[in-house]
Amino acid sequence: MTLGGSWGQDRIPAARYDAARDAMHAAHRAGITLFDHADIYIGGDSETVFGRILAEDAELRRDVQVQTKCGIRLPGNTAPEGSPVHYRLDRDTVRSSLEGSLERLGLDRVERLFVHRPDPLTPVAATAAALDELHDEGLIGSVGLSNVTPHHVVAFQHHLRTPVTAVQLQLSLAHRDFVESQVLANHPDGTAVSFPGGLLAQCAAEEIEIQAWGALAGGMYSGAPATGGTAGHGAAALVAELAERMGLPREAVVVGWLLRHPYGIRPVVGTLDPQRIAACAQAPRAAELMTHEDWYALWTAARGRPLP
Ligand SMILES: NC(=O)c1ccc[n+]([C@@H]2O[C@H](COP(=O)([O-])OP(=O)(O)OC[C@H]3O[C@@H](n4cnc5c(N)ncnc54)[C@H](OP(=O)(O)O)[C@@H]3O)[C@@H](O)[C@H]2O)c1
Repeated sequence: MTLGGSWGQDRIPAARYDAARDAMHAAHRAGITLFDHADIYIGGDSETVFGRILAEDAELRRDVQVQTKCGIRLPGNTAPEGSPVHYRLDRDTVRSSLEGSLERLGLDRVERLFVHRPDPLTPVAATAAALDELHDEGLIGSVGLSNVTPHHVVAFQHHLRTPVTAVQLQLSLAHRDFVESQVLANHPDGTAVSFPGGLLAQCAAEEIEIQAWGALAGGMYSGAPATGGTAGHGAAALVAELAERMGLPREAVVVGWLLRHPYGIRPVVGTLDPQRIAACAQAPRAAELMTHEDWYALWTAARGRPLP
């Protein structure tokens, strides 16, 4: 999302290309081969810079799989200046978004095209028909759905011929609604849980991959400077303690907490720091070493009060 720049910029400064290249090579060295994009990331520049770096390196290009997203219209980015932030999933928008992404990435196809957010004004049948066309033309391998409810998944599956292979939501130690929704039924704490109930079980049952965006929680438990308040201090201390016991970096523990969940969550991490990328790649080992009690202790520390 921030390859070579930061969120909100509309161009990646040329001076940051080397950092982008280093991040991609660090990921490749760590065995990470699926890269997550969107038409809106740095006004499309993340895809452009990624595509340039891919074109320089045949080995990287051979190994890399790319998923991208369409449908969010930001003023001065994918929508004209002065328009409101909106979502648009009609045929022309979906097609032109993907065609723009492919051109910027220098690719003939992407592994998966995500609907970035639902658009209440476009019937799902119309979006599904557009996605099927792109799939029939070999431009997308499958469809992903981001920031959706179980009802969206059912509706898209009903209208699509193309398989839905992934759902992407914000899941992390800082965004724990997905587990809270599993245990806080009929409890006062449950009223504040916004996660769409049943979504993960539905995905697991239908073999739809669950992807966690923001999986590192922005580093709040693994060394990022605190942005005010003491929220997260207890969990950060416990992450450090578990990391020490396991002989692994703190990032591995934070991301490992997601991997320890039985639904097969795939973390999507946004760090560009080569060391942090390598650290995240050790998360499977942290998940192996994490006991049942460790997992609950991390959850409890992050929520800041005991479970009922
Ligand atoms: N589907 C959606 O709606 C959606 C929404 C948002 C994001 N995404 C996807 O999910 C990916 C990950 O999300 P994300 O980037 O928001 O979250 P993230 O992976 O939780 O956080 C990454 C950010 O945290 C910083 N960070 C991590 N550890 C740090 C530390 N110890 N000290 C200082 N900074 C630290 C990183 O900076 P460094 O680079 O310096 O490490 C980076 O800016 C994005 O790249 C994007 O592909 C999808």
